[in-house]
Amino acid sequence: MKHLLGIRQLEESAITEIFSHADRIAREFHDPFYHNHKVMISFFGEPSTRTRFSFEAAAVHLGMRTLTAADASVSSSLKKGETWKDTFRTLGQYGDVIVCRHSDEEFTRAAEMWSRIPVINAGNGHDEHPTQALLDVYTIKKELGHLDNLKVMICGDLRYGRTVNSLSYLLKRYGAHVYYVPAVGLGGWKNDPTELKFYPQMAKCDMPYHEFLDPYIAHLKLEEMDVVYLTRIQNERREDGVIVKDYFKLHASRLKEMKEKSVILHPLPRGDEIDTACDDDPRAAYHERQVRNGLYVRVAILKMLLDRPYN
Ligand code: NCD
Repeated sequence: MKHLLGIRQLEESAITEIFSHADRIAREFHDPFYHNHKVMISFFGEPSTRTRFSFEAAAVHLGMRTLTAADASVSSSLKKGETWKDTFRTLGQYGDVIVCRHSDEEFTRAAEMWSRIPVINAGNGHDEHPTQALLDVYTIKKELGHLDNLKVMICGDLRYGRTVNSLSYLLKRYGAHVYYVPAVGLGGWKNDPTELKFYPQMAKCDMPYHEFLDPYIAHLKLEEMDVVYLTRIQNERREDGVIVKDYFKLHASRLKEMKEKSVILHPLPRGDEIDTACDDDPRAAYHERQVRNGLYVRVAILKMLLDRPYN
C-alpha cells in the first residue's frame, strides 16, 4: 500500500494487517518498556522558534517521537469551531503528552478539566509561559550560583508579555527584589496608579518587594542589578494598533555600569531593546546559554510528566 486515500482501495489482507498491527501497538502502549516510543504532540497556534524546537529537541533526546502542528490555529479543527475539550480528548488518543501554545488563554483551564494526558503550557495568550520562567530561573542560578537576595530588573512589555508574568511569580518564591521598567504607553501607570491593576503580575501576585522605574532613568540602577531581563514589545497583541517606541534599551556603552557578576537575559525574539553589540559580552546569556538551558529544563519536565502515572 502506497497511499491511503479511500477506504475502497483496501483489500481484505491489508485490513487484517492494519488490525493486527493495531493490536500489537495497543498492547505495547501499556508496556513500561515502551517509554522510548512515547509521542509528544506539539500543538502550536502561535509562532515559535525556541519553545517549539526546544521541546521537540527534548523529545528527540528522550527517544520520543513528535507530532507537530506549527500553525494549529488555522490548520486544526479549532478553526472549524471545535472545542478545546474535543481537541484535547482527540489528541490524547494519538500521543502521551501535548505541548500547547495558543492565543486563547483559556486552553489551560480546558486542559485541566478535559485532557487525559499531560498538557504543557507553551504560552497561553498574554497570561503565562511557565517553562520559560523555569528556564530563566534555572539560568540565573547557573550563571550566578545562587538565587538569594536577587535584584532583578524586568523591562519591556509588562502588559502583554507573558514571560514576565510567569517569571514574576517564580521570582517571588525566592524573595527577589524586582524593578519593573515598563514601556511607556502601556497603561500610563506613572500618572495613574489605578492602572497597576492591569499588570497581571501586580493583580495576581503579591510581590513583597517591587518598584517601578521610568525607562529613561532605569540605567541609573543598572549597577545594582544581578539580573537584567529584557522583553520585546508585543505589538501583535495590541488591539489599538499603537506602536510603542519608548522603552528601555540596553546599549553596549552601559555594560560597564553593570556588576561583573550579573546576567543579561531575554526570552527572545528581540526587537531593538538589546543592542547587538552586547551579544558577545560574557554576561549576555540570552543567545546561547539561556536557550541551551531551555533544552535541559524541557527534557526534565517531559521526563517528570511521563514517568509519573497520570490520572
Ligand atoms: C516569548 C513568548 O512567546 O512569549 N518567546 C519565547 O517563548 N521564547 C517571548 C516573546 O514572544 O516576546
